[in-house]
Amino acid sequence: MTLLEIFPSLRSAMTPRLDPAVWPASTHVDDHDRITVAGVALADIADQYGTPSYVLDELDLRHRCRTYREVFPEAEIAYAGKALLTRAVATWVTEEGLSLDVCSAGELAIALSAGVNPRRIIMHGNAKTPAELSAARDAGVGRIVIDSHAEITLLAATLTRRQNVLVRVTPGIDAHTHRAVATGVTDQKFGFPLEHGQADEAVRRVLGQPRLNLIGLHCHLGSQITEVEHFRTAVDRMIAQMAQIRIDHGTILTELNLGGGHGISYVCGDPQLDLSSLAATLDDALDDACARHRFPRPRITLEPGRAVAGRAGVTVYRVVSVKHVTGGRTFVCVDGGMSDNPRVALYGAHYSVALANRHSIAAPAVVTVAGRHCEAGDELAVDVQLPSDLHPGDVLAVPGTGAYHHSLASTYNAVGRPPIVAVRDGRSRELIRRETVEDLLRREVSG
Ligand SMILES: Cc1ncc(COP(=O)(O)O)c(C=O)c1O
Repeated sequence: MTLLEIFPSLRSAMTPRLDPAVWPASTHVDDHDRITVAGVALADIADQYGTPSYVLDELDLRHRCRTYREVFPEAEIAYAGKALLTRAVATWVTEEGLSLDVCSAGELAIALSAGVNPRRIIMHGNAKTPAELSAARDAGVGRIVIDSHAEITLLAATLTRRQNVLVRVTPGIDAHTHRAVATGVTDQKFGFPLEHGQADEAVRRVLGQPRLNLIGLHCHLGSQITEVEHFRTAVDRMIAQMAQIRIDHGTILTELNLGGGHGISYVCGDPQLDLSSLAATLDDALDDACARHRFPRPRITLEPGRAVAGRAGVTVYRVVSVKHVTGGRTFVCVDGGMSDNPRVALYGAHYSVALANRHSIAAPAVVTVAGRHCEAGDELAVDVQLPSDLHPGDVLAVPGTGAYHHSLASTYNAVGRPPIVAVRDGRSRELIRRETVEDLLRREVSG
């Protein structure tokens, strides 16, 4: 007889800490001490669909869309598809009243094949190809965000009728995010800097093209931003620019797209962006800036990706081996890694990990969860606490993997990409199947 059988009340005290700020809202522990999401045991998903698998809580994702609409009732919310886009996700977000931001012909095709109204699609990309601009034109997307001088000329030549466009500007704001995702600073590849009149020049050129209907400006400050004050500065600078455009050209722009970048927690205690406080700050900043410049309040668009999809996702892995290095670390090696989650290697991201298929009363040990790939840096979580009796066959779950995991996945080492399994009301269904070795071989055209 186990201790838990003698003292059942110990169970709740001893279950792993599943912080609701990090795990999907529907995460629980069932009577067999297994972690469940939306009423489905992650261990059952591992058995049925194999590992690694991305698990996606549909209602969690839908709920986050609804929260955005409630907190920002007057703004347009355009889900950033680069975070995670499948036909089902495109359907869920648009059913919840969001628009959709895409940044490639591929993402556009997924959105269209899900039946998304093209008028609600915003097309991004710092290097859109002629084919992509033609695809956006043919689809009749609502807005194209212009990112370079070459694009102005190319788009104007491509269009057969007037197209609503925004100009992407970099407002020179350092939101203190990782260098690889700091897109609001001047010295990077996106948009036209406000500095040195570069954005002015782009606006002048766009206004000189009769087929381009400039309706607003766009900026995106970076990723994982947790302090709302950066957005106040952005509003100040962007409204000042819009007011200057009115003075210089007599054109009143009616749309201000402030991008995404809303930070979420990956581990317990991580800061995250407070949406209510962002709403209050934006309101305040718009009141101030518009009054100062006597400029009519533009319609605001926000483009969250991670904050909509990130916490709806959990990746399940199976432990393949546990290696104790004498004088070194203990490595818990799993059957996935940097091919399904490159964020650790790319950004030094941190994750929570939990044992998902059973409860252990073994003492915790500090371990490194390592991936299966041929890179020493292929580690999913360093110095995390897991039960010391972990063994091959155990199932580990990593929360916070709904955004920028499937979309960033690779086939490194010819390992096929994992499936996406949606869970809702105690049921699971595959949205994307696992990529097989046959899929990889099918791409080879000559031997
Ligand atoms: C233009 C634009 N909008 C929105 C986003 C979404 O950012 P996040 O997922 O951090 O909210 C990105 C991310 O790179 C972006 O480049």
